[in-house]
Amino acid sequence: MAKADIGLVGLGVMGANLALNIAEKGYTVAVNNRSAARIDDFMATAREQGLDGRTMPEADLTAFVQSVKVPRSIIIMVKAGRPVDDMIEQLLPLLEAGDAILECGNSLFSDTQRRFDYLKPKGIGYLGVGVSGGAEGARHGPSIMVGGSKEQWHHAEPVLKAIAAKFKGESCCAWLGEGGAGHFVKTIHNGIEYGDMQMIAEVYGVMRDGLGMDAGACAEVFKRWNAGPLNSYLIEITGHVLEAVDGETGRPLVELILDKAGQKGTGVWSAIAAQELGVPATAIEGAVAARSISSRKSERIAAEAVYGRRQDGKAGISIDDLEKALLAGKIVSYTQGFSVIARQSEAQGWGLELSTIAKIWRAGCIIRSRFLDQMASAFAGDASTNLLMVPDFVTLMKDCHPALRRVVAAGALGELPLICLSSALSYFDSYHQARGTANLIQGQRDFFGAHGFEIEGRGSDLHGVWPATISEAAE
Ligand code: 6PG
Repeated sequence: MAKADIGLVGLGVMGANLALNIAEKGYTVAVNNRSAARIDDFMATAREQGLDGRTMPEADLTAFVQSVKVPRSIIIMVKAGRPVDDMIEQLLPLLEAGDAILECGNSLFSDTQRRFDYLKPKGIGYLGVGVSGGAEGARHGPSIMVGGSKEQWHHAEPVLKAIAAKFKGESCCAWLGEGGAGHFVKTIHNGIEYGDMQMIAEVYGVMRDGLGMDAGACAEVFKRWNAGPLNSYLIEITGHVLEAVDGETGRPLVELILDKAGQKGTGVWSAIAAQELGVPATAIEGAVAARSISSRKSERIAAEAVYGRRQDGKAGISIDDLEKALLAGKIVSYTQGFSVIARQSEAQGWGLELSTIAKIWRAGCIIRSRFLDQMASAFAGDASTNLLMVPDFVTLMKDCHPALRRVVAAGALGELPLICLSSALSYFDSYHQARGTANLIQGQRDFFGAHGFEIEGRGSDLHGVWPATISEAAE
């Protein structure tokens, strides 16, 4: 019997959709799942879609592995964490040197790096693959961020490139670097996704609470914005979410949904990575914090009772300012995300190309946007890794930051929380000021801990002559 081009274990929503996508692009895919019932369900769907001829169900793991062409590429799509390690251990005795495991979940990059290092001496390739685009993307074309064993990547490359989204004919799939590079880039993609979503929600808050607009009116604005420089998947779906009506009450659905947002970990990992690498990523950190605050609903209710409710409808800000503020906030947030990637690439020796990353994010993924095409060109033509210094973005930022300033000021006066937008503005203001205030921090550090400071022309590791004790200072 002819062997399959590729194997896939784990027929959850994402796994099943990826398998159907592979079959639709003309490749044969062997599929396996811990529960056989799910394989049957999958085959029924494949049959409905006329794809069962290129899907090979195999409930027995050994038979499944043997049904794939050598050198084998086996995709695993199981829950991140322990289940991935368990699956690797089950597959290991069944694989031969030269075969590869492609793990396509949202894994922590250091876990991927560890698995890569563990399998390398055994001759088994390990690819940590970031797949973005949700269920729809997996089925019809996700963005695919590949990291890990380069040799084995070439075996899987035709299939992965075929199933990925296309931007003007170019596949949104690339091998980015060794080890955990693919999963790290996916993690920062998600951090940026958190920032985008939070900034959109903040702007919606200004419209709803500061300007007294109803959900339908907000939806119209987002639809209009989607035809301009903010054009993106998230702006587009925001319009749809805002215009949806609840069948039972006839009210806008968004007004019935509880204001508590969940999170599965990649936002937190992005913020931790930024902090560990010493790269400021205030917009991402703000977005993660905003989700945490959102989840403390009862505390917020109690605090509102103590501090009083703000007066709504007093923001006095224009829709045009909101559009530009969002654009400026996005530029800062992407600047920060790409800076985290650049620094990690240096630290790990991955040699990541920022223009390639921007290119494969132009279609398929959750943060896809017109803006990313501009970014891909900017990085291609400039060695700078800080977008705020790339000429096209300097022009954009100069045009948009006054609006961001007005929105943040209106938010502060109107008690409208803008964690992400205001922290983006503060980062921008800190970034473009030659003279900061850390001289005082250094003075304080030297006072209490003799940490030393620098004076131009006199040298570093200097010390002040401080009063010996606080009480002495007070005398
Ligand atoms: C994607 C998404 C996806 C992620 C969800 C949920 O790129 O397709 O990033 O991978 O799992 O967005 O993330 P949270 O539950 O943390 O919001």
